[in-house]
Amino acid sequence: MVLAGRRRDPPPVWLMRQAGRYLPEYRAVRARVPDFLALCYTPELAVEVTLQPLRRFPLDAAILFSDILVVPHALGLDVRFVEGEGPRVRRLGPEDSLPVFDPDAFDRHLQPVYETVARLSEALRRRREALIGFAGAPWTLAAYLLEGGGSRDFARARELAWARPAFVEALVDRLTEAVTHFLVRQIEHGAEVVKLFDSWAGVLPEPLVRRLVLAPLGRIVEALRARRPEVPVILFPRGLSLLYPEALQLGAAAVALDTTVPPATMAAAAATAPTRTLQGNLDPALLVAGGAALAAEVRRIVRALDDLPHVFNLGHGILPHTPPEHVAHMLEVLRTAGGTADGA
Ligand code: CP3
Repeated sequence: MVLAGRRRDPPPVWLMRQAGRYLPEYRAVRARVPDFLALCYTPELAVEVTLQPLRRFPLDAAILFSDILVVPHALGLDVRFVEGEGPRVRRLGPEDSLPVFDPDAFDRHLQPVYETVARLSEALRRRREALIGFAGAPWTLAAYLLEGGGSRDFARARELAWARPAFVEALVDRLTEAVTHFLVRQIEHGAEVVKLFDSWAGVLPEPLVRRLVLAPLGRIVEALRARRPEVPVILFPRGLSLLYPEALQLGAAAVALDTTVPPATMAAAAATAPTRTLQGNLDPALLVAGGAALAAEVRRIVRALDDLPHVFNLGHGILPHTPPEHVAHMLEVLRTAGGTADGA
């Protein structure tokens, strides 16, 4: 298995946001529920939308249908998804007390998500696709809380990280505890791989990246390795730029590359690092554009990562206006993109 460090040719593939609005069958289910979080908390529907992309495409994994913001929601914070605007969270500041992590209340709130994982595990039992669980990384969750929602540059979150370091670090520590617990629970219910999405790692400068991104990710990897050593962890520290190679030192099974990091550069760094498996990193905009450029880029990425275990994926989530035929075309190109089969 590639996440255990063996190459496969062609590489296995799944796609970030492979379940979602680009699929008409997702939009049909989504139209039946009043709000997005209700979909995440209805096991029957969450299972259905998780499996939808597997019915259409030859993918190697299913990723639990949920959202990173269910963790702050389960900590009692007010999280809402506003149509056309994205997530809104009640803004947290140094004048507020930290969210309280009560594992029993947390698990009660997330029971429908655990139930979804268990049903998916059962549905995939005799199939080859792996079941991937996930959580938002502590910094990215903290960024949404400090900002009160999404943002282009998370300026308020950064400002607080500099001005009130003890408060922000305590918040990140609290979220680290909750996220570790959440991932262990997903594993107990049948997740075979877990991924940490640090979508906003890249808004921070180096000293804050070390404290608020790399240190907590390292602590989560270590805790999971101590408790569930057989479960591979994938890290996605989006936007780390020149600090990306540092994510290879945290003991994870794989590091997912964003769209901007050159795969060959990361391959060179991974060759001698504790983490050798790389995931990524096709530009989702190219999956919208399609055509000859898409085929050429799939081949370039596969070649650049050819010497290492590689899981093909996008460098960020599928865009809602992606034509599903382009996904099928990309997978067809990928099937013949290798060339150095070693049977592993
Ligand atoms: O198929 C999958 O990848 C599994 C499901 C999944 C969703 N969100 C479903 C979703 C996963 C893994 C996520 C992770 C997530 N959520 C991240 C990390 C990955 C990344 O994209 O960087 C982040 C930052 C979020 C927060 C979030 N959720 C935002 C910013 C938005 C709104 C933006 C948008 O695309 O609309 C969401 C909503 C969301 N999460 C949707 C889906 C399918 C669309 C909502 C809808 O259907 O109405």
